[in-house]
Amino acid sequence: MSRGDEAARAKRLRERIEYHNHRYYVLDDPEIPDAEYDRLMRELEALEAADPSLIVPDSPTQRVGAAPSAAFDEVRHALPMLSLANAFDEQELRDFDRRARERLERDEVIYTAETKLDGLAVSLRYEGGALARAATRGDGARGEDVTANVRTIRAVPLRLGGDGVPRVLEVRAEVYMSLDGFERLNARQRARGEKVFANPRNAAAGGLRQLDPRVTASRPLTLFCYGLGLVEGGEVPGTQYERLAWLASLGLRVSPEAKRVTGADGCLAYYRDLAARRDRLGYEIDGCVFKVDDVIGQERLGQVSRAPRWAVAYKFPAQEQVTRLVDIDVQVGRTGTLTPVARLEPVRVGGVTVTNATLHNQDEIDRKDVRVGDRVVVRRAGDVIPEVVRVLDDGDHAARERFDLLAKVGGRCPVCGSRAERAEGESAVRCSGGLYCGAQRRQALWHFASRRAMDIEGLGEKVIDQLVERDLVKSPADLYTLEAGTLAGLERMAEKSAANLVAAIARSRDTTLARLVYALGIRDVGEATALALATWFGDLDPIIEADTDALMQVPDVGPVVAEHIQAFFREPHNRDVIAALRAHGVTWEPMDAARDAQRERPLDGKTVVITGTLSAPRDEVKARLQALGAKVTGSVSKKTDFVLAGEEAGSKLAKAESLGVAVVDEAWLDGLE
Ligand code: IVH
Repeated sequence: MSRGDEAARAKRLRERIEYHNHRYYVLDDPEIPDAEYDRLMRELEALEAADPSLIVPDSPTQRVGAAPSAAFDEVRHALPMLSLANAFDEQELRDFDRRARERLERDEVIYTAETKLDGLAVSLRYEGGALARAATRGDGARGEDVTANVRTIRAVPLRLGGDGVPRVLEVRAEVYMSLDGFERLNARQRARGEKVFANPRNAAAGGLRQLDPRVTASRPLTLFCYGLGLVEGGEVPGTQYERLAWLASLGLRVSPEAKRVTGADGCLAYYRDLAARRDRLGYEIDGCVFKVDDVIGQERLGQVSRAPRWAVAYKFPAQEQVTRLVDIDVQVGRTGTLTPVARLEPVRVGGVTVTNATLHNQDEIDRKDVRVGDRVVVRRAGDVIPEVVRVLDDGDHAARERFDLLAKVGGRCPVCGSRAERAEGESAVRCSGGLYCGAQRRQALWHFASRRAMDIEGLGEKVIDQLVERDLVKSPADLYTLEAGTLAGLERMAEKSAANLVAAIARSRDTTLARLVYALGIRDVGEATALALATWFGDLDPIIEADTDALMQVPDVGPVVAEHIQAFFREPHNRDVIAALRAHGVTWEPMDAARDAQRERPLDGKTVVITGTLSAPRDEVKARLQALGAKVTGSVSKKTDFVLAGEEAGSKLAKAESLGVAVVDEAWLDGLE
């Protein structure tokens, strides 16, 4: 391609990426699969890398470009960012409407009703259609320059589209984090042993006020635009409702909840409807905002001190309340994690009575220093399980005993009595009971029956639930004793399907060692590790008897996994299940143990990278490569021996070619086995 072609191609890519960005982040309505979007992005990155003069400031690759700063610069808002007066009950809302009617000398007033988002207010300044600056509200007159951070928010267009973009346009918006994003972020923080956030608002505010834009970029922030600041050199619609539609037409993200309503009754109906749907919105709102719709009316009403007379916020009941922690119980989850649960003096939070709240795990209890008897702040948001946010010291906190989860359960699982343990460096305490533990039974059975494990067709979650509830099955081995007559007694199980299920269970008896090892549900032993163990040891007994050193010889098995495998087989009830499976006729073909074989495997010492779409799931291909001795890694470097490329391989293939690494296909793999 000539320089001109490349510039045209880069421009076209920028436009397409921005278009899909808008579909995805602004309209929540993506048109193409993520992989296709990534491909466009990679192509643009490659063009820009080859010729940096193609990079323009509003290229989608430039969202995270700026270096961390020492402090934020101060920004003076061209027009002040106002706050809102509050109505605290229905009467105050009616008073607000009455005053508006009187001042405007109208019989009724039309309002635009909006959600009051619980996030952080920002002002975005577009000059000539390009994002020039973003600032926080600050004290209303002066805020902080957070441009580099706001650029990383994908819902913020770097360039406006549509007709009639004014020369200068300031947009007022609320930056927030969805509940989903908040949960994901906290899960990530927990996994890394980093601080978790008390609520989405704090997480959003913290994310926006990061000195390093790369940190902001990693936070799932988005925004809704709800108003205008300074506008120069352009026409603006004359009502709030039309302004919102206009902002959307320029490519800005606007809440779909805004509606025109009439009078106080219209406002109250909107409020009630939203209150009823609040838990299903997927993000937090703390109430509604009602704004006199026509701008002429707004101007006539004017403002008092820092708040307009033409708008009012009507808040929902608070989502945080104070109550007393009566006790801490321990529950066992489906995956065997012991979770501390706070028993609370009943308290109404956000319109619902709360008596239990999660305390997550021991680390969280330590961090918040929660002790039985404390006065605590409880928070409930959306469909999220209520949680204890923090302790309020009532003077006696220090005199109370610290809580120790393991001590509370005497080191044993409260459901099955197996040893409960907390692994080094982990916050979760787990029951070691596995399939034996009643709390884990459903999960264990479901995993056992799943397609990649014993592959029992027709044994779905619904059937498993009933089998467990009726105590028909305690361990996977019991499946092999089920009779069609018993199964036909279950809900939604006709005689024919009962017979089919019995046949499917019977068929599963004849399996492979790798499937069986995987089916046992040993922690951290996925399909690939199960296959590696099977190939290495050749039969089940040598795996059961292997010590840590022997296990660690197996490719892909490190000290942690080795310990999990041993812990599993140490438990007498797990050995019982295996004996019962054998007794019920579960069999597999022993293999030649790779550990005994003196012969070298074809890929011993070789590093392979997989890329593109293959005919089988990636994990499966990876396991096959590992069984041949290969080390499978994620990125291509000079040290890579082979790149196994499937359909539509992208940048990794390109890199392999540029480094001269051998590129092979699936037929090559078939040939090695
Ligand atoms: S309008 C002219 N609309 O609430 C009045 N504000 O208490 C200016 N907020 O700082 C605000 N959602 O952070 C307006 N739909 C909405 C809002 C909203 C949330 C926040 C905003 C503002 C604060 C005022």
